[in-house]
Amino acid sequence: MAHYEKLDHWSLKAQKEGYPARSVYKLKEMDEKFGLLPAGRAGGNPFRVLDLGAAPGSWSLYALRKLGSGLFLSAADLSPLSRQYDKGLFGGDKVFFIQGDITAAETREALLARGPYRLLMSDAAPATTGNRSVDTLRSLELAEVALDYAEAALEKGGNLVVKVFQGGDTAEILKRIRELFKTGKSFKPAACRSESFETYYLGLDRR
Ligand SMILES: C[S@@+](CC[C@H](N)C(=O)[O-])C[C@H]1O[C@@H](n2cnc3c(N)ncnc32)[C@H](O)[C@@H]1O
Repeated sequence: MAHYEKLDHWSLKAQKEGYPARSVYKLKEMDEKFGLLPAGRAGGNPFRVLDLGAAPGSWSLYALRKLGSGLFLSAADLSPLSRQYDKGLFGGDKVFFIQGDITAAETREALLARGPYRLLMSDAAPATTGNRSVDTLRSLELAEVALDYAEAALEKGGNLVVKVFQGGDTAEILKRIRELFKTGKSFKPAACRSESFETYYLGLDRR
């Protein structure tokens, strides 16, 4: 079946290129299209990125490999980051990782204390139940949380990328994004499974 072939293609490619998850290609495509992470940055003020729902760590690793010493990364997840492919990068002093719930006050405090950020990326997704309305509602709650972080910790001119499951009141999320950013749009990367109802919303150029 076509979607299994696609899954194999992206997963094998991720393995070959040293990423713990195929989701890296979603970020890569959005980065190439919207210029989320500047290449070859070194010296000066680090480019600060906040990665919510970061485990197993492909998005974080992509940012670290692209920006090198020009990056400061804060990341959070309920699960730990995978150390299978990071070659020590996650243990460096340019990375702050907190294993915790992004909705919890102590996680929020620790992440906000290390801001402000230039890019907030949230790939956070609930463990799916198979009940689409429950899953969609939980995903929207996580997207709202990501927007709260954007409001509190994203600097002027900064960008946001946030995962949402389509089907619920996504219009409300997009409305909030458009209030906070000069541009708000949705984008479904090619690496999303064709049957998946996930998509991404982008907020570009924070007001
Ligand atoms: C699709 S995965 C992220 C993949 C990641 N972007 C990567 O490239 O490796 C979604 C993650 O969201 C995390 N997550 C879901 N709810 C969360 C919460 N309330 N707090 C922190 N992390 C959460 C899950 O634990 C899961 O690891």
